[in-house]
Amino acid sequence: MVDELVLGLESSCDEMAAAVVRGGREILSSAVHGQADVHRPYGGVVPELASRDHVRAVSRVAERALADAGVGPEELSGLAVTAGPGLVGSLLVGLSFGKALAYRHGIPLVGVHHLVGHLISAELASDALRPPYVGLVVSGGHTALYRIEVDAAPQLLGQTRDDAAGEAFDKVAALLGLPYPGGPAVSSAAESGDPAAVDFPRPMIRDRGLDFSYSGLKTAVALEVERRSRLSAHDGRLSSRDVADVAASFEAAATDSLISRCVRALEQEGISRLAVVGGVAANRRLRRGVEREAHRRGWLAVFPPLELCTDNAAMIAAAGARLLARGVRHGPELNAFSRVPLGAAAWTAATA
Ligand code: KG4
Ligand code: ZN
Repeated sequence: MVDELVLGLESSCDEMAAAVVRGGREILSSAVHGQADVHRPYGGVVPELASRDHVRAVSRVAERALADAGVGPEELSGLAVTAGPGLVGSLLVGLSFGKALAYRHGIPLVGVHHLVGHLISAELASDALRPPYVGLVVSGGHTALYRIEVDAAPQLLGQTRDDAAGEAFDKVAALLGLPYPGGPAVSSAAESGDPAAVDFPRPMIRDRGLDFSYSGLKTAVALEVERRSRLSAHDGRLSSRDVADVAASFEAAATDSLISRCVRALEQEGISRLAVVGGVAANRRLRRGVEREAHRRGWLAVFPPLELCTDNAAMIAAAGARLLARGVRHGPELNAFSRVPLGAAAWTAATA
């Protein structure tokens, strides 16, 4: 795998991304075309608009990744493309483009599970992160804890029973009148707020399992916003102080419950290595809180750099390189899938 050049393509949601990775580790290029401007007026991702924008961007983004890496398609030893889970219309754009490129140049093709890509993003960030470790995947679509072992399917330890953590950030942003995407907006508003201003419930903190829940917290935020707007002296609008305090208190509750679940998972599994991946892993309060616990307990906690937390294709190329090295190949029958558990089949092959 040392010099193998793999082109990764990722289009599962609202980012069209392409990247070239050498030897499964070294990122030669990583191009990302986001669509925040397309979806902002609607306050969330509109699937039809996402796939149309992907169609316009895909060849340009792939060409940019190859040019930045100084690599021609004929030099590629593999092509890895996200096959799911995600929005099927969006996935099909990257997948069809990848299949055509692989066929045209006779390059081996492999489909990658999006969450495997996110988990590998942490392995790219740290040589010290070796299985067994616990992986927390926290993004707009997923909130789950896995036990990762060598050459075995990731074992699901716990997951959200309702909303994903990133989805809760996005919904709270909408309640507070903050722009899309909500996660970064809530977290920057929170910087000037008091995290103790509102004592929001810590979701399922007393539950002894490893599941998550965000719907109760989201309702509590909605009620607090309503209460504050009733008391508002500005025509029902929240002051910037109100927005900052509610954002900071929500962020504290949302991240505390993620941190406490990580601690419980590592204790329960007798493991001292943790990877936190996905868009919400970019959150500064979460990073600080997990690092504090890890330092106190002598654990290794790995967060990918910010550009590898949110959706990108370097993680897909790196995951694909591992699959290709094990001899996994997919043909033109490879299809997109909207949902699939991160089970045994998904770890070695993208189609369950
Ligand atoms: O991994 P990702 O790019 O896409 C999915 O696979 O879902 O994650 C996007 C999610 C969004 O919900 C976004 O609001 C959240 O990650 N996010 C954050 C932050 N940056 C992105 N949430 C909290 N704090 C942040 N700094
Ligand atoms: Zn993602």
